[in-house]
Amino acid sequence: MAAPPARARADYDYLIKLLLIGDSGVGKSCLLLRFSDGSFTTSFITTIGIDFKIRTIELDGKRIKLQIWDTAGQERFRTITTAYYRGAMGILLVYDVTDESSFNNIRNWIRNIEQHASDNVNKILVGNKADMDESKRSAKTNLNVEEVFFSIAKDIKQRLADSDTKAEPSTIKINQPDAAGGAGQAAQKLGCCG
Ligand code: GTP
Repeated sequence: MAAPPARARADYDYLIKLLLIGDSGVGKSCLLLRFSDGSFTTSFITTIGIDFKIRTIELDGKRIKLQIWDTAGQERFRTITTAYYRGAMGILLVYDVTDESSFNNIRNWIRNIEQHASDNVNKILVGNKADMDESKRSAKTNLNVEEVFFSIAKDIKQRLADSDTKAEPSTIKINQPDAAGGAGQAAQKLGCCG
């Protein structure tokens, strides 16, 4: 019997890499813990460098494996954490709704994204600690936490599906008279992300 295609053997249809960034103490680790383990802690153990967790969700009948990287907000880890921007397909920009400076700093985090992440990376702004304010999202109460991760995952899945279908016409071009130029270009585009 023929072996099943590689895709069918994988335990997911899409692998999506997400990154959590924002000032120290805004609740990035708590958001991730809430989303991946369904738990919350009031103790503040600052992230050292970088950490990640996995959760597989289902969207439109597809299994989406989310690999979520939690960065340290502290300045002293910036060199380590920015190295992870490049591989991210989506970035969650987190601030604390009770801490205005964490919101003002979002512009600096966006600058970091512009400098270090891929141009087409998806972004979502998350105002955390809503239980302490009248806002929208909180790791403590689980308010809208699922919605945030599902929303960005859905957009990225759509983007990946769109680029899959767009890639097809460039394969067909190989058989056309101007194949040399066309195929060369297509190879460059498809092979750029190794
Ligand atoms: P760094 O790792 O230093 O970048 O910090 P962080 O952004 O990961 O913050 P962390 O998740 O460790 O949370 C910091 C503190 O905020 C902890 O004491 C949490 O208990 C608290 N916290 C996080 N989310 C919430 C929330 O939704 N509501 C409330 N009230 N407190 C929260």
